Amino acid sequence: MTTKIAVITGAGQGIGKGIAFRLAKDGFTVVINDLDGELAEETATELKDHGYDALAVPGDMSKQTDVFKLAKKTVDAYGRIDVFINNAGIEQVKPLEEVTEEDINTIFNINVFGVIYGIQAAAQQMKKQDGVGKIINACSIAGHKGFDMLSVYSATKFSVRALTQAAAQELAQYQITVNSYCPGIVGTKMWERIDKEMGKYSGAAEGESFKAFSKAISLGRTQEPEDVANFVSYLASSDSDYMTGQSVMIDGGVIFS
Ligand SMILES: NC(=O)c1ccc[n+]([C@@H]2O[C@H](COP(=O)([O-])OP(=O)(O)OC[C@H]3O[C@@H](n4cnc5c(N)ncnc54)[C@H](O)[C@@H]3O)[C@@H](O)[C@H]2O)c1
Repeated sequence: MTTKIAVITGAGQGIGKGIAFRLAKDGFTVVINDLDGELAEETATELKDHGYDALAVPGDMSKQTDVFKLAKKTVDAYGRIDVFINNAGIEQVKPLEEVTEEDINTIFNINVFGVIYGIQAAAQQMKKQDGVGKIINACSIAGHKGFDMLSVYSATKFSVRALTQAAAQELAQYQITVNSYCPGIVGTKMWERIDKEMGKYSGAAEGESFKAFSKAISLGRTQEPEDVANFVSYLASSDSDYMTGQSVMIDGGVIFS
């Protein structure tokens, strides 16, 4: 069997890195993108140290040219793309009334436009290939419920859900599936920043906002990148071949839809 190739954006740390390690363990060759080139290289080196095949491709996923370059470099190196994971994303903690035009542009550029470019670049390549191509997007519980202080972030994740549904319908004829994972409260750098920013507005001490949000988790513990990666492993595998257009909660029981 030929090795399958998975591209993961924003995989220098956090959830993306967790997904990279899980897919490598599943037998994929993994292409590690990150805006932070050093982090991308470090993660690729760590994977190689574990005996996995990995390639670092730094780049800014809010730029269409960088996204297409990522796809091209992958195809140049490995000849195909089986799985493309639009994981890169940023947060924004602000009351809606204080949000500036620049704030909106910045977050939409990566969380929404980046996902569109990723779908385009992946589809362009996957259409030329045999077999099922899989495009997987990072959504969120905030893609199913709007959260206060995270209003524009929530809007970007609702957009990811819309794009997932629309792209799934457009690309089904090419045997390309499009699905999303919707994590809850994962202990990554992203939540460290959210916690700090929320504290500035509410006066809560460091760690308190994270704890307060985590109380909503039915399973009683905060989420690890591995919890997300376990589900993405399914989305990347042939077991999910009959599933498309879905944005599925993997949150320990926060949002019930
Ligand atoms: N942490 C959570 O609780 C949580 C919950 C739901 C959804 N998510 C989503 O999961 C994804 C990953 O989140 P995380 O918690 O691992 O975040 P993180 O901030 O810990 O890591 C994200 C990585 O993406 C990279 N990145 C940022 N902008 C980029 C760009 N323009 N191009 C390429 N790389 C870029 C960063 O350098 C960073 O290494 C995001 O889309 C996020 O919205 C996270």
